[in-house]
Amino acid sequence: MAAERGTFGRMGFVLAAVGSAIGLGNIWKFPYITYANEGGSFVLVYLVAVALIGAPIMFAEILIGRRTQTNPVGAFGTLGAKLPGGRLWRLAGGLGVLTGFVLLSYYAVIAGWTVFYFGKGIGWSINGFDPDGGTTLGDSFGAFLANGPLQILFHGIFVALTVGVVVLGVKEGIERVTKVLMPILAGILVLLLFNSLSMPGFGEALRFLFHVGPLDADAALEAVGHAFFTLSLGMGAMVTYGSYMSRKSSIPRSSLAICVLDTVVALAASMIMFSIIFSVPEAERATTFGRSSTILFTTLPQMFYGMALGRILAPLFYILVAFAALTSTISILEVVVSYLVDMRGWARQKAAPVVGIAVFALGIPCGLSLGASEELSGWRPLGDLAQGVFDTLDYTVSNWLLPIGGLLTAIFAGWLLSSKLTREEIEEGHGPFPLFAVWKFALRFIGPIAILWILWAVIQGRSFA
Ligand code: PHE
Repeated sequence: MAAERGTFGRMGFVLAAVGSAIGLGNIWKFPYITYANEGGSFVLVYLVAVALIGAPIMFAEILIGRRTQTNPVGAFGTLGAKLPGGRLWRLAGGLGVLTGFVLLSYYAVIAGWTVFYFGKGIGWSINGFDPDGGTTLGDSFGAFLANGPLQILFHGIFVALTVGVVVLGVKEGIERVTKVLMPILAGILVLLLFNSLSMPGFGEALRFLFHVGPLDADAALEAVGHAFFTLSLGMGAMVTYGSYMSRKSSIPRSSLAICVLDTVVALAASMIMFSIIFSVPEAERATTFGRSSTILFTTLPQMFYGMALGRILAPLFYILVAFAALTSTISILEVVVSYLVDMRGWARQKAAPVVGIAVFALGIPCGLSLGASEELSGWRPLGDLAQGVFDTLDYTVSNWLLPIGGLLTAIFAGWLLSSKLTREEIEEGHGPFPLFAVWKFALRFIGPIAILWILWAVIQGRSFA
């Protein structure tokens, strides 16, 4: 079976993994949570969390995958067999597969919005900017959310695109597509960033992002939690991609590239958005920006079409977000597919569409729970913690499943696997790794303590979804 699994080329691995990391988390979520948390110190904690918590767990996930050359269930099962807990460790991999399945079903709903707004942007650019016959953009976005058939249609389009790539395989599908999309994404981003340099709000955007101010504990926790999500950690995505990594590639160098590029893109996206936002006079900002999580779809079009090059930049921006989301959904689907292929003996050509259909099905109640269906939108199995199917799933994944997955990975690789094994794997394709002790310390202590702190706060009733 190993021969059929496929292996990424050296650049192929880095691009695919960077593509997984860079997604809605960077372009949609990071800017709005940074905005909500007053920038500055929040960004600083986030940077520290990426370096001290994210990067070490990234190493761990990739090495577990590359060592075993199999999916997360098989990987944890094989390595765990002789360790305390034994075959039970398969459950840690299984948790990742389950998390991936749930995450994909609602992630693809938002990803679908980017395709919809790309289409809308093209329309506006050609026919002139007209937010649905004179209503405000906020209203028009609300109407879009409440439009059940459209939610389902664009969710379905996104799942179909994802399946279309994954079905082609690791080299022919994932590697080939990410190799094309990632450079385009970088090009568009640089263009947009360059454009924002000349905007009046650019200076204030920079100050907002990098000033140091007070920070409350909740914001710090949110920053740590987001570091997980944005680096695609805690659900086996990096284990899976690591299993396709060549033994000639360096885990430390690749991980560093992934973490740095992911962070650079999050900061660049924020600079682009904040330059637009801060170019609006302060008095008008409060009325221009509604709920912060919708900035991307309500505020930005308004701003773009008030700018000289907006007609070109607006559709470009949405296609950028769509590409970023696609390279992430591909990696999430691949986790589930690799499990079915490796463990259940399914053909990839069967696994990808079957999982796609199941994801599409679970995405339907998610998409309808944003206003289209009163019942689904008001569903509150968790009481006040989350409202509606979409929020409930997001709450569960972001607050529980990803941190628990990360914690299990840190315990597994930091405390149970022998240093001999982990060192050998990290040094394979890299050479001597002098920071090994630092890595191990961070993985054993800093990561688990931070995650337990998050879980403790979640138990106290806080939510970081
Ligand atoms: N990292 C992706 C983002 O920032 C989301 C993701 C999470 C992808 C987990 C894969 C696994 O959007």
